[in-house]
Amino acid sequence: MAQKDSTWNINGHFKGKDILSLHQFTPKDIKKVFTITKKMAQIAKYSRVSKLLSGTVTTLLFYEPSSRTFGSFGASVKRLGGQTIDILDPKHFSSVSKGETLEDTIRVFEAYSNCLVIRHPVVGSAKAAAEAAFFIPVINAGDGVGEHPTQALLDMYTIFEKRGRLDNLTGVFAGDMLNGRTVHSLLLGLSLFKNNTMYLLSPKELKLTRSDYKSFTDRGIKLIEIEKEQEIPKNAHFWYWTRVQKERFADLKAYEKVKNRYAITKETLENFAGKETILMHPLPRVGEIDIAVDEDPRALYLRAQVRNGMYVRMALLGLILGRIG
Ligand code: NCD
Repeated sequence: MAQKDSTWNINGHFKGKDILSLHQFTPKDIKKVFTITKKMAQIAKYSRVSKLLSGTVTTLLFYEPSSRTFGSFGASVKRLGGQTIDILDPKHFSSVSKGETLEDTIRVFEAYSNCLVIRHPVVGSAKAAAEAAFFIPVINAGDGVGEHPTQALLDMYTIFEKRGRLDNLTGVFAGDMLNGRTVHSLLLGLSLFKNNTMYLLSPKELKLTRSDYKSFTDRGIKLIEIEKEQEIPKNAHFWYWTRVQKERFADLKAYEKVKNRYAITKETLENFAGKETILMHPLPRVGEIDIAVDEDPRALYLRAQVRNGMYVRMALLGLILGRIG
């Protein structure tokens, strides 16, 4: 088996590369993913038989709970004619329970598969897994409070599809800026494009760390931190609502104090959103968007956004396994 391509930057070459962070991408790389995503959407929408990934096995190794990311990766592989090994909760159901190290687990599954997707509670663990895998590419499906690059790509695809561009945007992020890995990756992604201004609505306790704030703004994105809905700019291009990440709190009382500080109702939309503002959420939601909002055509979280998750992951798998592009 050939060694994989461990070069960090993608720079137009996806084959054999790990997908760990939005730091690896250029705007051109993102556009390339989108071009192929569009083709994948056609395969999935019309249930076309595809053999793009036939003969390949992808390991899905999830140390943290997941519905969408796990499910959509599985669906992506299967819709393209590949197979998966599904390891959910390895702490209980694999040799990890006997004390096996992450590195050993990765070395074992790389012997069985052509690609490995990992979700893990520790920041940097996807990178450690990628370093342990000599032969196969590793995809970060969420590393603690770090990053969630495939989620950011699907979020950006959704914005691009609905708003027609990724620059000159005004967006509103709400909820947990501190612990939200989807927020971190999406801010990194949007910072690749010119003239983007993001309003970050969160309680003081859940603001970005100062070091994240600096590293994002150093890339050219404008961030405005706000604490009241009244400060939301009218006619933002999109809203990106998030849940407060309960599992990252050592003290549940501290969680109770900040959870659902900002909940969207029909009135919130009426008062602060524009007619064209699209409403996104990575899900799961736990009370921060009223279900009455779901029927609003601007609400994309249970519609295009989830579907795009599968299409984008189909595109990425095809690219890094060298079957397309
Ligand atoms: C997110 C995650 O796991 O970071 N979920 C997802 O993958 N769509 C968001 C969250 O759990 O709040």
